[in-house]
Amino acid sequence: MTRTAIVTGGTRGIGEAICLALKAEGVSVVASYAGNDEAAAKFTQTHGIKAYKFDVADYDACQAAVKTIETENAPCDILVNNAGITRDGTLLRMTHQMWKEVIDTNLGGCFNMAKAVFAGMKERGFGRIVNIGSINGQGGQYGQVNYAAAKSGIHGFTKALAQEGAKFNITVNALAPGYIDTDMVAAVPKEVLEKIVAKVPVGRLGQAAEIARGVVFLSCEKAGFLTGSTLSINGGQHMY
Ligand code: CAA
Repeated sequence: MTRTAIVTGGTRGIGEAICLALKAEGVSVVASYAGNDEAAAKFTQTHGIKAYKFDVADYDACQAAVKTIETENAPCDILVNNAGITRDGTLLRMTHQMWKEVIDTNLGGCFNMAKAVFAGMKERGFGRIVNIGSINGQGGQYGQVNYAAAKSGIHGFTKALAQEGAKFNITVNALAPGYIDTDMVAAVPKEVLEKIVAKVPVGRLGQAAEIARGVVFLSCEKAGFLTGSTLSINGGQHMY
């Protein structure tokens, strides 16, 4: 049976790798993106995967977009909440706007998208929700009170929703990447990033495809007993 997946923030970085890995498994995939039309057009042209533009921080936009996606494609079986942004800065420099944007996008987006797909998954008796957390939600990070709070919130959100989904065959898991070779990590000042990589036992940044493998694992048909967990893929940087 062909399953259908929605991957938020799916046209670039980790999201793009997730789309490709799911597609390679025979899943019918659509991606969402917020702003970069050029990257989205290139993504669709290169991979033949549709991309829908909406802001995951906007509750109404998510409900409307999921309706459109499901009408134009098929009901959503797999939701990957991957869309995320950074607005780094120490607390003293962080504005309320920087706090709000990150919380609303990274954490609010998970709620908005789960709300849009959950009832349908319940009705059909199948669902896989994978929320992309972060090593910095597990261990904190200097200059990221907004991002660490949002990502840490994702881990709590995952465990609560997993309990609600279990009786409907909807699994909900989190995947916590470490520092991955993406545009987001490339924005970290070089000297800061060198210090971070020096603390990674594997000795390098991760690759987006290495995260995507984890998403395939968590969202596969046979993973019905795997729920409420967090899979950490971080080169050994954070263990507990
Ligand atoms: N621990 C303790 N002190 C630290 C520190 C740390 N980790 N990092 C910086 N400091 C100290 C500095 O030594 C400096 O101290 P002094 O003033 O006494 O010299 C002070 O903090 C200010 O440092 P900066 O000059 O760097 O301050 P800034 O305001 O210019 O920048 C920052 C602060 C924006 C947080 C910058 O350090 C930074 O970008 N850090 C990286 C944050 C990061 O890792 N972001 C991850 C983005 S990728 C991602 O989030 C994906 C994912 O899931 C992993």
